[in-house]
Amino acid sequence: MKVFYQYKELNVAKNKYPAKSIGLVPTMGALHEGHITLVKRALEDNDLVLVSIFVNPTQFDNKNDLKNYPKTLESDLTKLQTLGGNVWVYAPEADDLYNNKIEPRVYNFGKLETTMEGAHREGHFQGVATVVQKLFEALQPTVAYFGEKDYQQLQIITALVRQENIPVVIVSCPIIRHEDGLAMSSRNKRLNIKERAMAPVIYETLQKAVALKDIHSPPQIESWITEFFAHQPEFDLEYFSIADIQTLEKVSALNGSKTRAFIAIKLGGVRLIDNIKF
Ligand code: PAF
Repeated sequence: MKVFYQYKELNVAKNKYPAKSIGLVPTMGALHEGHITLVKRALEDNDLVLVSIFVNPTQFDNKNDLKNYPKTLESDLTKLQTLGGNVWVYAPEADDLYNNKIEPRVYNFGKLETTMEGAHREGHFQGVATVVQKLFEALQPTVAYFGEKDYQQLQIITALVRQENIPVVIVSCPIIRHEDGLAMSSRNKRLNIKERAMAPVIYETLQKAVALKDIHSPPQIESWITEFFAHQPEFDLEYFSIADIQTLEKVSALNGSKTRAFIAIKLGGVRLIDNIKF
């Protein structure tokens, strides 16, 4: 494993290395099994795998969220090291990618970015698209891997490569869950013991929603979920939406369309998201 803090150095090494295909796993660190699964998949598909570890300031609308985001570079590197494959890590400071101008670029993703996460996190996807494009430009991967937990992000990045004609193949990978069903997330580390014990309710509720799909319409299921969480004082539901997997717009009937249910909810002070295939 090699670690680089500047992409120019990484590229010097890369130019000497005859890799036919290069897989990139962009992360913000605090690596968990979900990330490791992406890295393993990338190792299967490519001769060289780059893992970026960078907490991107332009995608946080909340300064506290940015400040509290776990930073665990040492243990992240240990986890990657134990994988033993051909993994190079890129762990820059902001200046290396942003060149003294820590600002998002401006994109138009239409309704894709005004719904769900976009509606609750001002400018979030402009920041995500900015850093992902910068990573693609700096590192020039063949393929990049993203988890389906951040499903809307995946759609935004798919739109980004299409709009900007970026020659990178986007691969999506299924959500990795703890045994009790909680989707793996770096934010789970911020839950206290009591909150962590309650957190599996989120996925259980998503599963119940799926179980109701033959007898209730999506709006009825949405009302049921809203009502359910209204009686759970520890949880603060931001949205629950049964939506088309391409447009992410809410559907009023399933009609054989491809849909998923999406949830964002606060537990204690921690904002968690999840989704499930309908
Ligand atoms: O999903 C994430 O961890 C981040 O949004 C990403 C894609 C690494 C961009 O900062």
